[in-house]
Amino acid sequence: MNRQDLLVLQDVRERKGSYYTPRIWVELSQKYLADVFGTDWQDEYYVWDCAAGTGNLLAGLTNKYNVFASTLDKADVDVMKQRIHNGANLLEEHVFGFDFLNDDFAPKSKGRKLPNALYDIINDPKRRKQLIIYINPPYAEHGNRSTFAGKGEHKAKVSTTNKVYNDFKSIVGTAVRELYAQFFLRVYKEIPDAKLASFSTLKFINSQNFTKFRSYFKAAFLKGFICKANTFDSVRGQFPIGFLIWDLEKKETISKVNADIVLDDAIFKRSWKKGTKSFYAINARVFISDWLRNFYDKKSDEIGYLILPGVDMQQQGGVYITSQPTKSDVLQHKTARVTINNLMEMSVYLAVRHCIDHTWLNNQDQLLWPNKKWEKDIEFQNDCLAYTLFHGKNIIQSKHGANHWIPFMEKEVNARAKFDSHFMASFIGGKIIKNGYSDLFEQQETAFCTVREFSPEATQVFNAGRELWKYYHAAPNCNVNASLYDIREHFQGRNEKGKMNSKCNDETYNELIGNLRLALKALATKIEPKIYRYGFLKK
Ligand SMILES: C[S@@+](CC[C@H](N)C(=O)[O-])C[C@H]1O[C@@H](n2cnc3c(N)ncnc32)[C@H](O)[C@@H]1O
Repeated sequence: MNRQDLLVLQDVRERKGSYYTPRIWVELSQKYLADVFGTDWQDEYYVWDCAAGTGNLLAGLTNKYNVFASTLDKADVDVMKQRIHNGANLLEEHVFGFDFLNDDFAPKSKGRKLPNALYDIINDPKRRKQLIIYINPPYAEHGNRSTFAGKGEHKAKVSTTNKVYNDFKSIVGTAVRELYAQFFLRVYKEIPDAKLASFSTLKFINSQNFTKFRSYFKAAFLKGFICKANTFDSVRGQFPIGFLIWDLEKKETISKVNADIVLDDAIFKRSWKKGTKSFYAINARVFISDWLRNFYDKKSDEIGYLILPGVDMQQQGGVYITSQPTKSDVLQHKTARVTINNLMEMSVYLAVRHCIDHTWLNNQDQLLWPNKKWEKDIEFQNDCLAYTLFHGKNIIQSKHGANHWIPFMEKEVNARAKFDSHFMASFIGGKIIKNGYSDLFEQQETAFCTVREFSPEATQVFNAGRELWKYYHAAPNCNVNASLYDIREHFQGRNEKGKMNSKCNDETYNELIGNLRLALKALATKIEPKIYRYGFLKK
């Protein structure tokens, strides 16, 4: 990366959202512009970078008479002018200080800031169709705990004290907090029919917060690519940044965008493109959380709680089953009771949220209300149950009360005494739950008599789990009612901060838990295509 721009102190740059575009993405974005607008695009179109910083994005452009560069800070304008003296291919008259979110589009000839040539283009309905707003706008967002910088600080005043914010807050709702959205909105309204070629997150395509924005901002998507956010200087998150080219003349509702996936290390090789990725605009209440609500059971006794954070993949880590939800989970209404009546649906939820790994690419993909096909696929449901029973995110603990999640009978694991609850083994075996097995579920004894038949992959998971339980029950100080989590805790122990260790010295245990994880992975691979087929996720 070319770092000659690091003249501005780091903290000042972060406050203003100035993350420089790496040279590889500058070059690739210009290749995409040439693909869309033709090899002579630099002669046939005008270019305005209205968030130019020190002009990185314009490096490599050849026709300076058609290029304009403006930015907020005078110091950056001075650097650009200095660069012109050092040979940068820009016209001094076309480089100017301009606050794009506040200043008027008024010309130099009237004592204001826009170069007259640019003012004339913007005011000519024909010529402004040839104007490409080519930008990497600032990323700061107001009031968001985890900013793109990953610092967690509020960027108050960065984005809420300007004219564009005030003009649009009632039209596009919360989306207006995002600085890049403010740039897009001003371009859309005041330079109608121009082209927009911009780096940004994909939130304006797929976030629910941008629903109102999308009802207002209508444009035709032409072409674009996505790359990893952390290839940008100072951006640490694992999510995609897109460079997307739009024709604002064609008013099309944004519903789906197919972008090329590019990998930073491979760009100069022939295989820099790694397929495409679709991003969907989903506006209505059709998410997996809306679906699961149909199965909430407030009447029957609970056997545990499912914790449900937001519906996008980046929240995967927060999905788990517990015996005791935290206060904050309860306060934020993120808990659902798991009962005999909804155990299968809750298991489907946990499995579809965990079978596919969270990556930078799928970070913002949202889990959806499925179609009806899953209802008939009993094997899928049983696979999900097996996955849920043995998954590391099942953190049921016997210290909080009877453990209803032991998937075996005493004999199978050589237990020394009777379990307090046989609920899970009975549920799986299709046995009527009798008094003495579990008092708790006596009243529902006729409802669940289905013997659950498991696929070979799910059976492998049970087999690996059974070996682990057996090994634990052979230990001298074992707890008969132990859950999977209790067993892991027993062998792995905790560090001085109270966190469960990831490693353990007991080689037999390591092998057994390793076998269980492998079997779970194989089961996840089997479940995965059905997650798409049944519409929980879109490809
Ligand atoms: C992400 S940086 C991009 C810099 C450079 N164009 C590049 O691609 O490397 C965004 C730039 O927008 C500038 N900026 C922030 N707010 C602005 C505003 N209201 N008007 C114009 N420029 C602004 C920042 O100072 C910063 O230089």
